Amino acid sequence: MSKNIQNVAVIGAQWGDEGKGKIVDLLCEDFDVVARYQGGHNAGHTVKFEDKHFALRLIPSGIVHPNKLCLLGNGMVIDPDALLSEVASLREAGVTIEDNLLISDAAHCILPYHKALDLAREEAAGEAKIGTTGRGIGPAYEGKVGRYGIRIADLVDPDVLKQKIEFACAERNAVLADVYKKDTFDPVKLYEDYLRYGEILAKRITNGTVWINEHIRAGKRVMFEGAQGMMLDIDHGTYPFVTSSSTIVGGVCSGLGVAPKHIHKVIGVAKAYTTRVGGGAFPTELDNEHGEHLRRRGNEFGTVTGRPRRCGWLDLPVLRTASIINGIDELAVTKLDVLDEFDEIQVCTAYKVRGKSWSTFPAFAVAHHDYQPEYRTFKGWKTSTVGITHFEDLPPQAKDYVRFIEDETETKAAIISTGPRREETIVR
Ligand code: GDP
Ligand code: IMO
Ligand code: MG
Repeated sequence: MSKNIQNVAVIGAQWGDEGKGKIVDLLCEDFDVVARYQGGHNAGHTVKFEDKHFALRLIPSGIVHPNKLCLLGNGMVIDPDALLSEVASLREAGVTIEDNLLISDAAHCILPYHKALDLAREEAAGEAKIGTTGRGIGPAYEGKVGRYGIRIADLVDPDVLKQKIEFACAERNAVLADVYKKDTFDPVKLYEDYLRYGEILAKRITNGTVWINEHIRAGKRVMFEGAQGMMLDIDHGTYPFVTSSSTIVGGVCSGLGVAPKHIHKVIGVAKAYTTRVGGGAFPTELDNEHGEHLRRRGNEFGTVTGRPRRCGWLDLPVLRTASIINGIDELAVTKLDVLDEFDEIQVCTAYKVRGKSWSTFPAFAVAHHDYQPEYRTFKGWKTSTVGITHFEDLPPQAKDYVRFIEDETETKAAIISTGPRREETIVR
């Protein structure tokens, strides 16, 4: 990537799992720092190259590259137990994790009662459940916004930690026991566990905002790695079927303490079709053999939970919305190869909802069967694009398909991905 562009954000332009991990890994060579700014171990980012396969959850995908510094930003919610097991399994796979991994002291902690509440609520909600990853993400962000959350800095401050855990745990226990009839947690045990996490993590804890801004000032190049996708954003997504963080590029500013002027390029990652895990509107969902084909061929099963992902055709109103909100400069279109076998491929150009036509995603909450998608039909290319690395080598119909996406979103598809591995990519 051109040296004139110092810092780049890579964000999901759909409902997550667009292939952000692959794109971050691909581009990371030119960067010094890779930083996450939101979310937690609800994320699952896959990186594959040669015969290697990594599934990252909390740790930025840059970690698999030697000599890249990785930061977990203040906007994240971190389960220390999950972090330590991720570190252990990466080390087992031969990844060096020494002083290349840092954690912002202002990031928030996930505690076991957050996870228990997440699960209890989902169970109680029945049909109306969100379909969360059950990792305690929502309740941890609630604690943060409610101003009684436990921050990473508190882990190394025993008195503060003890008092904060006692206070938060008492309230959460009451809700767990009284409202949901679930087991409660012993604050003393939690305090001891989290104090121990603090001791183990202490050397990685830093003022993330100062740290990243010092690196930017020194001319180091930073990649901001988004988790989830734009349609799961707490403000701009399909609320309430969203995650609890700012997944959009604006989240970089609050989630790392980085000023907007330091974000020089935004890459939106989008599959050549659409998937979503969990509940909520999905206008182009295919509840038929085409959806099944996408799931099988695209291996659309969650990296984190193993849940089958819902699959459907490409949704241009979603991409246009993502483009507006994130100021997307370039698209990375992934999984083009998954469409190889279709006779016909459809692309949603707009939908009719409540008698009105929409070319961007409407904010009101409606169920997906309320949408009437308008489709443009493309002839399939019926030949393998797997591993193609030059745009000219794509079959003509696949080129038309990509050009159509570019025209409709007014954005260049600077990267086209033709397989899960780093090597299977077209960079234009
Ligand atoms: P992320 O959460 O955005 O990083 O995406 P995930 O890693 O959860 O899901 C993307 C999945 O698609 C992973 O299994 C990747 O290995 C795979 N993948 C990424 N790009 C491609 C591609 O171009 N073709 C195919 N067939 N698979 C891909
Ligand atoms: P990556 O980074 C896809 C979804 C869940 C659920 C909703 C809320 O791999 O793209 P949460 O546990 O966050 O409270 O769940 O958000 N979700 C994701 N879907 N990819 C993800 O991450 C997701 N992280 C959360 O399925 O619908
Ligand atoms: Mg994922």
